[in-house]
Amino acid sequence: MTASLDQLRRCHFAVDLGAARSRVYIKGSGLVVDQPSVAAVNTRTGALIAVGELAERMNGRTPDYIRVVRPVSGGSVVDIEMAQRMLRQLIGDRMRRTLRRKPFLRAAACTPHGSDPLARRATIETLVGLGARRVELVDTLIAAAVGCELPVERPEATMVMVCGAAATQLAVLSLGSIVTAQRVPVGGEAVDHAIVQHLRHQHELMLPSQSVRPLQVALSGNGLTAQGPAFTDIHGRDVATGLARSVRVNTAAVRDAIQTPLTAILDGVGKVLRECPPDLVADLADRGIVMVGGSALLPGLDQMLRQATGMPVNIAERPDVCAIEGLGAMMEGRIQPLELHKLTR
Ligand SMILES: Nc1ncnc2c1ncn2[C@@H]1O[C@H](COP(=O)(O)OP(=O)(O)OP(=O)(O)O)[C@@H](O)[C@H]1O
Ligand SMILES: [Mg+2]
Repeated sequence: MTASLDQLRRCHFAVDLGAARSRVYIKGSGLVVDQPSVAAVNTRTGALIAVGELAERMNGRTPDYIRVVRPVSGGSVVDIEMAQRMLRQLIGDRMRRTLRRKPFLRAAACTPHGSDPLARRATIETLVGLGARRVELVDTLIAAAVGCELPVERPEATMVMVCGAAATQLAVLSLGSIVTAQRVPVGGEAVDHAIVQHLRHQHELMLPSQSVRPLQVALSGNGLTAQGPAFTDIHGRDVATGLARSVRVNTAAVRDAIQTPLTAILDGVGKVLRECPPDLVADLADRGIVMVGGSALLPGLDQMLRQATGMPVNIAERPDVCAIEGLGAMMEGRIQPLELHKLTR
């Protein structure tokens, strides 16, 4: 499924449509869009009111004639037309004019590992609507591994874990290809959901989903690990009275609450390692796992993975943009294919 480096080098722009954020890379200009995959629509007129950060801020705060929609869900485009309108707006007129000048516009996009043909079709249709005459698809795992500068094309194992909003994908790569991979449908959204449910059940507090991130940030550093602060204060709404209330939350209990979704991720890691040839596992013991994706920043996740596997675990320098930067690097020709030495007799 993954396009060749030659095909990618001919592309003019690349898109990573994520469940949480959309990113666009334009050849020669770099990363030009990194915004939430959200659009606000006027339901009376059908007009687009806002996209990206602004639309996300409107979520839960709109009058009933404005609807905040997410055209990408579970890692694939569910509303092609809305995704096109959102991307058009995010890219902006000036950049769109630059792209329109290309005689045969080619686009690259990353798709989740093992995505079904329908989901791939939806991604292609979205970009065709933006004017692309040809769309090359790249497995997110390969794009992310290239983006965090792993030596994927060498005959040694590298393991990458893409922690997205909708799913966590992991793979062992060698010689530029995926050796074994898994996609676990648990990501940052499931973790946020577990925290919201915990506060609801244990403290009878309703927390808007947008406030979960500030909670995670408050707990970051080593907040969600055993060494972090024992308690933290959170503001929300009482489930019964509907009034604003703050509660003192035990961080150890929050840690336990997010354990369930994280266990599924650790199971996936075990499965990938079991399916991997022994020689490659031996390489991984030295090199370890590289975490990318926004949820790699989830406090304590790296430590949990280190404990579960006994292997070194590193978080990429800019984990959230690795996949799109990888596509960008391949488009700009910064990645060289493996040079095979001539066989001598
Ligand atoms: N500092 C942080 N701490 C904890 N979680 C974070 C942090 N920053 C981002 N996230 C989480 O990362 C997720 C977004 O990651 P990313 O941008 O990789 O998702 P995506 O590419 O849109 O999703 P997907 O690839 O699954 O479609 C969100 O669920 C968000 O809550
Ligand atoms: Mg992603």
